[in-house]
Amino acid sequence: MSAKKEFGDFQTPLPLAREVIGLVDSLIGTPARVVEPTAGLGAFLEAAEEKWGVGSVYNGYEINTTYVRDANSRLSERGIFIGQQDFFEADWRGILSVAGSEKVLVVGNPPWVTNAELGSLGSRNLPKKTNFQRLRGFDANTGKANFDIAEWMLIRLIEALPSSGAMAMLCKTMTARKVLRHFWKTDGGRKQAGLFLIDAKRQFDVSVDACLFFLRGRHCAEQTATVYATLDTHKKLSEFGFVEGNLVSDGNSYKALRDLDGGSPYTWRSGLKHDAADIMELTPANGHYINGLNQPVTIESNYVFPLLKSSDIGNGRTIPRKFVLVTQQSTAEETEVIRDVAPKTWAYLKAHADKLDSRRSSIYRNRPRFGIFGIGAYSFAPWKVAISGLYNTFRFVVVSPEAGRPVMLDDTCYSIACGSKEEACLIADLLNSDACQRFLRSLVFPDSKRPITTDVLRRLSLVALARRLGRLEELAPYVKRSEAYRDAGETQLQLVMERGKASVAWVKE
Ligand SMILES: C[S@@+](CC[C@H](N)C(=O)[O-])C[C@H]1O[C@@H](n2cnc3c(N)ncnc32)[C@H](O)[C@@H]1O
Repeated sequence: MSAKKEFGDFQTPLPLAREVIGLVDSLIGTPARVVEPTAGLGAFLEAAEEKWGVGSVYNGYEINTTYVRDANSRLSERGIFIGQQDFFEADWRGILSVAGSEKVLVVGNPPWVTNAELGSLGSRNLPKKTNFQRLRGFDANTGKANFDIAEWMLIRLIEALPSSGAMAMLCKTMTARKVLRHFWKTDGGRKQAGLFLIDAKRQFDVSVDACLFFLRGRHCAEQTATVYATLDTHKKLSEFGFVEGNLVSDGNSYKALRDLDGGSPYTWRSGLKHDAADIMELTPANGHYINGLNQPVTIESNYVFPLLKSSDIGNGRTIPRKFVLVTQQSTAEETEVIRDVAPKTWAYLKAHADKLDSRRSSIYRNRPRFGIFGIGAYSFAPWKVAISGLYNTFRFVVVSPEAGRPVMLDDTCYSIACGSKEEACLIADLLNSDACQRFLRSLVFPDSKRPITTDVLRRLSLVALARRLGRLEELAPYVKRSEAYRDAGETQLQLVMERGKASVAWVKE
């Protein structure tokens, strides 16, 4: 394991540290004390001392003994002292406490590494409290519990920061947002929160969106942060914030379109999940199929359906080039029936049982053999409106049946099931409208790994959108019928028609 990786070790170049200190000076003036919590070789303390000289006191902390020794031997004669300290063992409230309204500045660059990366590295460089942000169970399995070590550190530091203090830390923009959301959700905003974007590729040779994350210790009611294009307060780009319990990437656009935030009578579905593309996905070839192992496959057509992948949907391709073996109509359905209905298909599955039985995801455990996920009545709807979750564009595509068969989508696509071409075209029109596109863009952050998620799509009210676009009367009859694609027991918002007119009210079932 590389120690550099384990400790998220990217030392800040001195010119960048100087630029940061210059910006901080313009924001808060000279602090009484400068604290660098993971100081490394001390670039920030060095740049701070250059700027503020004897006007301030300079303390650093760092886990790596070699760095501590090197930095002290180079910087101690300038009044800069770095102590050997594990961040997770330190009493940050004690360290950052000040007399009266003295200004303490926390500045630096915490490690760039996630707990999952550390887990896979077998590292113990983690907070002792493992149930961070109370994420466990399903979230922990799906990666929502994957957090940057910096996220944990920044939260601890902000909690300990006196109200007269300020913090300026380099981190991923996603980390800064998560930290702000944590405070907006819990104990309120912080004054002057801002993300000053930096070019991480140029500075650290890492391809990630990063920033200088600045805020003051003082609490405030505002739940917004400003994004700046560079380390310059004149280069304001946008403002994001927390509105009604949700993070929005562009507060102004969101407010203008807020009526669209309301949930939908249609359910957004992820596509089919099988985790065995080599076996389950087939390419047609002269009356038979070829699987991903390049083997010819001759099976009955009962369980074979046309397939559009995320790359097709993302590029607007709607003619399927592949097929997929759909072994169930619902996740609970027993698969042994295939043996009698389609013996060649069963023989094919059995021939590849080693691969199918050893699929790693725990979701397949204690489920019918050769089973799949993301399957239900909605998968067999003749028409769909789909979007790829892997692309950064909100392009919604009408998916039509192919040779009388419903077309399946892969698990990185999201779709709405429709009963007819007219319904699918209407919904696609609504979704591709300028108002809808602006609304969705106001919610998502383009640097997220997966900007488009069902959480985002679910927030859009197709009814409010249709009303805004003057098409509610067209949509209303379809909404009622969309219930056909609901699984038993699923609850959802319903459209309630008022007598004689297509105005709407919502009730929970
Ligand atoms: C991204 S580097 C930045 C170093 C320095 N702040 C700078 O800007 O040049 C992160 C630093 O955090 C240190 N570090 C990692 N885990 C730590 C821990 N648990 N406690 C204290 N320092 C730690 C690493 O050794 C490394 O020097």
